Amino acid sequence: MPQIDAIAPRVRAAGQEHLLLGVESLDPAARAAFARQLEAIDWDALPGWIKRYVRAPETPPTPDALEPAPYYPQSSERKPAWDRDRYRGVGEELLRAGKVACFTVAGGQGSRLGYDGPKGCYPAGCVTGKPLFEVFADGVRATAARYGAPVPWYIMTSPLNHEATVGFFATHEHFGLDPNDVKFFPQGTIPSLDKATGRVLLSEPGEVATNPDGHGGAIRALYESGAVKDMRARGIEHVSYFQVDNPHTRVADPVFLGLHAAAPDSSGEFSSKMVAKAAWDEKVGVFCKGDGRVCVIEYSDLPESLAKETDAGGSLRFNAGSVAIHAIGVGFIEKLATDAASGLPFHRAVKKVPCYDPELGEQVDPTEPNGVKLERFIFDAIPLAGSSIVYETDRVEEFAPIKNASGADSVETSKDLQTERAARWLEAAGVSVPRGAGGRVDAVIEISGLTALDAAHLRERSNLPSAIEPGAKVVL
Ligand code: UD1
Repeated sequence: MPQIDAIAPRVRAAGQEHLLLGVESLDPAARAAFARQLEAIDWDALPGWIKRYVRAPETPPTPDALEPAPYYPQSSERKPAWDRDRYRGVGEELLRAGKVACFTVAGGQGSRLGYDGPKGCYPAGCVTGKPLFEVFADGVRATAARYGAPVPWYIMTSPLNHEATVGFFATHEHFGLDPNDVKFFPQGTIPSLDKATGRVLLSEPGEVATNPDGHGGAIRALYESGAVKDMRARGIEHVSYFQVDNPHTRVADPVFLGLHAAAPDSSGEFSSKMVAKAAWDEKVGVFCKGDGRVCVIEYSDLPESLAKETDAGGSLRFNAGSVAIHAIGVGFIEKLATDAASGLPFHRAVKKVPCYDPELGEQVDPTEPNGVKLERFIFDAIPLAGSSIVYETDRVEEFAPIKNASGADSVETSKDLQTERAARWLEAAGVSVPRGAGGRVDAVIEISGLTALDAAHLRERSNLPSAIEPGAKVVL
C-alpha cells in the first residue's frame, strides 16, 4: 500500500509541497486514500505540463500552410472516383471474420443537456424515447446477426459515471447483448491545476481535485484496462470508434471499414468520417492537411478567416466537418499506448473549480474561473498515423447529435433528423410518407437498428406498410 511519507519527496520535487500540509490530521483511511491518489500522479511529467499549459500556455500549434484535407466523396459524380462496392466487400469480410469491435467514448456527463446522469442513458428515440445506449446496442446486435459473427462492444466510462453506466446495462439486461461481449472500463483522470500558480488543487482535505483526461485518454485506458489484450485474444483488428451523443451513428459501417483497411492511401491506423459543414461557424472540428499530414483543427482553433474562405463555386473551402466517427487499427492503439514519445498533447480548459486551500484551511467557492483542466483529444492521434484517410458521409444519414437542451444539436433537432432519415429509407423502399410545407414529414417515425441498418437493408423487409398516415407516430 502506498505511504504518503514515501511519496512526499516526489511531491516536493515537483514543487507541490502544499499538498502535504495537514496530512497528519487525516484519519488512517483518508491518509491511505490520499496516498493512493498521489501515487497515481505522474510527478515526473507534471512540472512540464504546468510550464506548457499553465505558466506560459501555448496556443495549440496550427500547422503552416493549412489546406483542406482530401476525402473520398459520397457522390460517385465527384472526383476522385472510387469503387464503393469493392470496399463494402472488404468491410463485410472483416465483419464476417469477427475482426471488428465497436468502441464508444461515454465518459461525458449530460450536464450540457441539463441531464443528471451518464449521457448514454439519455432518452433519444423520437417515438420510443429509448436511451442512446439502447440505440447503439440495437445496431451492434443487428450487425453481429447480419454478418454472423460477434461484434464486441467496449465502452469507456469515467470514474464519475462508471457505476451508473454498468448498473444501467445490468438493469436492462444489456439490451439483449451477450454480457461477455460488452466491456466497460473507466478513463483516467488528471489533477486540476490552479490557474495562477500551477499548483495541484485539492477538492477537500486529503483529496486531489481531478478531471477526466479527455477522450484522448482512451488510448491509454484501452491498453491499461486490458481491453486491447481482450481484443487481441478475440482476433479483433479494427475498432469502430464513436461518441455517445449521436444516435445516427452506423456502429460498424462496412464501406468505411473497407476503405480504412484497404484503400491504397490508408495505413489502416486511423481513418475518419466527415460531413459537409452546415455553416462556417458550425461547432465541429475540421479535417485539414498541414505539414503533409491530415489533422483535425477544433472549431475553436480554426482561424475565422480560414473558416469563412470559399472556393470558386462559393462553397466553404474548409468544409470537412468531423462527426467524430473513426476506424482505428488495434496495432496503432498498442503503438501509441506503449510509445511514450508519441503521447498525445493536452488542451487546456479554464474553469471554475471549487477547492480547499490548505494554507488558509478553508473551502473556496470561486466566482471566477480559477482552474485549468487538461484534456487529451483522440483526433490528435491522426497526424501520428502513417497515412490517414477521410470519408464523406451524408449528414442526415449519420449525424443527429444530442448535445444541448435546446437549439442546435438538441434532442429536438435530433428527433426531426431521425424522422427525416426514416422517411427517406421508407420512400426508397416504395412506402408513401406524408410531407407538408417545405417537405417536412407529417409524422414521427423511428426505425430500430434491429429492423434495418440502412436504406438497402430496409428494402429487404417484406412486412412494410404501403403508406404512413399523416400525423402518425410509427415505430418499425
Ligand atoms: C466533439 C468534437 C468535435 C466534433 C464533434 C462532433 C471534441 C473536443 N470535439 O465536440 O471535433 O466535430 O464532437 O459531434 O471532442 N468524452 C469522454 N471523456 C472525456 C470527454 C469527452 O468520454 O473526458 C466523450 C463524451 O462522452 C462524448 C464525446 O467524448 O461522447 C465528445 O465530447 P464533447 O466534449 O461533448 O465534444 P463536442 O464539443 O461535442
